[in-house]
Amino acid sequence: MNVLLIGGGGREHALAWKLKQSPLLDTLYCAPGNAGIAEVAELASLDIGDHDAVASFCLENAIGLVIIGPEAPLVAGLTDDLEAHGIKVFGPSQAAARLEGSKGFTKDLCARAAIPTASYARFADAASAKAYLARQTLPIVIKADGLAAGKGVTIAETKSEAEAAIDACFGGAFGDAGAELVIEEFLRGEEASFFALVDGTTALPLATAQDHKRAYDGDQGPNTGGMGAYSPAPVMTPALCRRVMAEIIEPTVRAMADAGTKFKGVLYAGLMIEDGAPKLVEYNVRFGDPECQALMLRLNSDLLPALLATAEGRLDGVALEWSDDPALCVVMAAKGYPGAYAKGTEIKGLAEAAREPGVQIFHAGTRRDGSRVLADGGRVLGVTARGRDIREAQARAYAAVDKIDWSGGFCRRDIGWRAVERDKESSEPAGCAAPLQ
Ligand code: AMP
Ligand code: GLY
Repeated sequence: MNVLLIGGGGREHALAWKLKQSPLLDTLYCAPGNAGIAEVAELASLDIGDHDAVASFCLENAIGLVIIGPEAPLVAGLTDDLEAHGIKVFGPSQAAARLEGSKGFTKDLCARAAIPTASYARFADAASAKAYLARQTLPIVIKADGLAAGKGVTIAETKSEAEAAIDACFGGAFGDAGAELVIEEFLRGEEASFFALVDGTTALPLATAQDHKRAYDGDQGPNTGGMGAYSPAPVMTPALCRRVMAEIIEPTVRAMADAGTKFKGVLYAGLMIEDGAPKLVEYNVRFGDPECQALMLRLNSDLLPALLATAEGRLDGVALEWSDDPALCVVMAAKGYPGAYAKGTEIKGLAEAAREPGVQIFHAGTRRDGSRVLADGGRVLGVTARGRDIREAQARAYAAVDKIDWSGGFCRRDIGWRAVERDKESSEPAGCAAPLQ
C-alpha cells in the first residue's frame, strides 16, 4: 500500500520511521517532511493547504491511506475533502476535530456526558467574562477558545492578571481563536497524557506519556510545544487507565457519535490526576509531539494495519503489543526558542550519536544542504531512547545528545526527572502496557 503522511515535525519522523517497518507498505510519501523524514520517505512537494492538490496527488499515486500528523489540517477539514474523493484518511473530520479546535465545544460535551473536568463558563465579550471572574476564586484559568499554538492559556494568580488575559484575548492577541474564551477552575495534581485510537465507535487504548512544556531545567521558563517526553507515565496505573477509558474516552466517543460527528483518529487526552482520580484538562485530536516519538519506540506491533483499521472502522478485535521498557525523548531546540532563533546553523555528529544503543534520532526542524544537515526550525531534533528502566532510557538519550555537535542548539538536562524520582522510590511496573481488561 502507498501511504501519504502529512506533516514535517518530530512526530511525523517517528511515524514515518515506524510505518517504514511495515510489510504492508509499498511507498511512503510525506509532505512537507524534513531532512530526517527524507531518509525513510519520498518528500512530495505539495501545498497541504490546497486540499484539491492533495487529493489529486493521492489519486495519481494510488495512495491507500493518508495519515495526518498535525492539528491545523484536521481543523481545516483536510480529512473531509479527501474522503469526498473516496480517499481513506487517518484523522478526524473537521466537525470531530472541534475536540481540539474549540475548548468551549469540548467543555460543553463534557458537561453533557458527565465527564470529569474543571468547572467552567464560556464568554463572547469582556464585560460578562469579568463579571463572572469577580465571583471566582484564584488561581483561575483563562483560555482562548480556538487554536492558539499553545499560547492561548493563562493561569492567572491575581484578578488583574486574569482581566489582562481577558482583554488580550478579546483585543485580538490570538486572532479568530480569541473571539470566544473559556474561564475554568484551576486543577491541582499531576499531569499525564493518555492516547487512544478511535474508529468512530470502538476505542483502543494505546499508551501513556508525560511531557515537559517549560523551556528550561526544573520546569522553569516559558511554555513551549514540548521539550521532552517519556512513556509510560508512572502515575498512570492500569486501574487509572481503565477509569480514563470508562469515565473519559468512551463517553466522549459515544457523545460524538450521538451528535452525528463520529470521531476517527487518535484521541490524546491531557489529564490531571489528583488523589488517584483523573480529570480531563483538554483533548488533542492527534499524536503529541514529542510524546509520539517515545510511543513509537515502545510499540512492538505494526502501526500501519492499526491506523488503517481506525480509518475503516474496524478497530474491534485489533490488539497492539507494547514493550514494557520505557522510552524517553529529549528535544534539542535552536537557542532562543520559543522566542526568536536563528535558522541555518550546522548540526554535526548525528551518525555517531545514532549508534548509541537503543537510540533513534528523530528530526523536527531540519533541512539538508548537500551533505550537511542544517537547523530549520525552533524544535530541531528529538533524541529518543529505550531502556530497561527510565534511568537507562534517560542515560542513553543524553549519551547520544552529548555526541551531537551543534553550537546553535540547547536542550533540557532533566527530561524524565519525575519518573526517575518515582523509580528510585518503587520498582513496581506501571503504565498502560499491562492488559486493561
Ligand atoms: P491546554 O492548552 O488546555 O493544554 O493548557 C496548557 C496547559 O495549561 C496544560 O497542559 C496545563 O498545564 C495547564 N492547564 C490548562 N487548564 C488547566 C486547569 N484547568 N488547571 C490547571 N492547569 C491547567
Ligand atoms: N507535547 C504537547 C502537544 O503535542 O500538544
